Amino acid sequence: MSVSNCRKDEAMQTFVTRQEIILWRAQQRTAQKQIGFVPTMGALHPGHLSLVEQACRENDVVLISIFVNPKQFNQNADLQSYPRMLSADLALLQHLPNLVIFAPNENEMYPADLPFAPMPLGKIGQLLEGAHRPGHFEGVVHVVHHLFALVQPQKAYFGQKDFQQLAIIRLLNNFYSFGIDIIGCETIRESDGLAMSSRNLRLTHAQRKNAVSISRALQLVKANVGKISLEEAKIAASAIIEQAGLEIDYLEIVDPITLENCTEWQQMQVCCVAAFCGEVRLIDNMLCESVL
Ligand code: PAF
Repeated sequence: MSVSNCRKDEAMQTFVTRQEIILWRAQQRTAQKQIGFVPTMGALHPGHLSLVEQACRENDVVLISIFVNPKQFNQNADLQSYPRMLSADLALLQHLPNLVIFAPNENEMYPADLPFAPMPLGKIGQLLEGAHRPGHFEGVVHVVHHLFALVQPQKAYFGQKDFQQLAIIRLLNNFYSFGIDIIGCETIRESDGLAMSSRNLRLTHAQRKNAVSISRALQLVKANVGKISLEEAKIAASAIIEQAGLEIDYLEIVDPITLENCTEWQQMQVCCVAAFCGEVRLIDNMLCESVL
């Protein structure tokens, strides 16, 4: 199904309560519509739009949730400064057909009487972001669990920029037996290579210029797989980021399935970076394939 095949005769509906979604979902089931789901925290950018457009092509109806999830922020200052711009987000989506928005408040998202049995995250939840942002993935799992249970989509779309999150969402889908087709979508980049992120909005002009060092560092690793040692690649990549004035939280070359550190080059690895550009914490990653 192409975007242009979606019907354009319905205005975009914006729901704010769980009850509205329950009713809407029942109607879609009766009408035998296939639902695509794109969970977001708003401050939408072209990266989100590409997920939504893919979801529109592949489903009859697409639901986008916009909810800044307090449970996944391990620092209050980060939560407070996260951009919130619902009107601008809705305006960006207006041109897309067959979209439904769910923009709940915290009480609707987490009613006191809604049961939730946490999933054990295992080792994958303790590495990289898990090690540096205690409680983050527990918060992501909590909100995505509630959203999946409510929306019951056939397909759900997540960006590969959050590589570890995507791996954990796949585990969640299996653990709670949701049976949803989880679609990982390519990272969308600015023309200079910076991965698109809602957090980029908080960068000053000078920081924005320096932030591109992250994707340059990733490119360096990708170009040098098998040519220099893995440790040399990490040192050279870190130097690019540090020389641009960013503070590295971690830079690791890991196995794409287990996310455990590689000790030597393998056929496929992913370089994962988190770095502070001023107050703004940016993450990015790149799959690096051995050409040997
Ligand atoms: O990737 C995000 O924007 C968030 O982690 C998600 C999946 C919407 C859950 O709050």
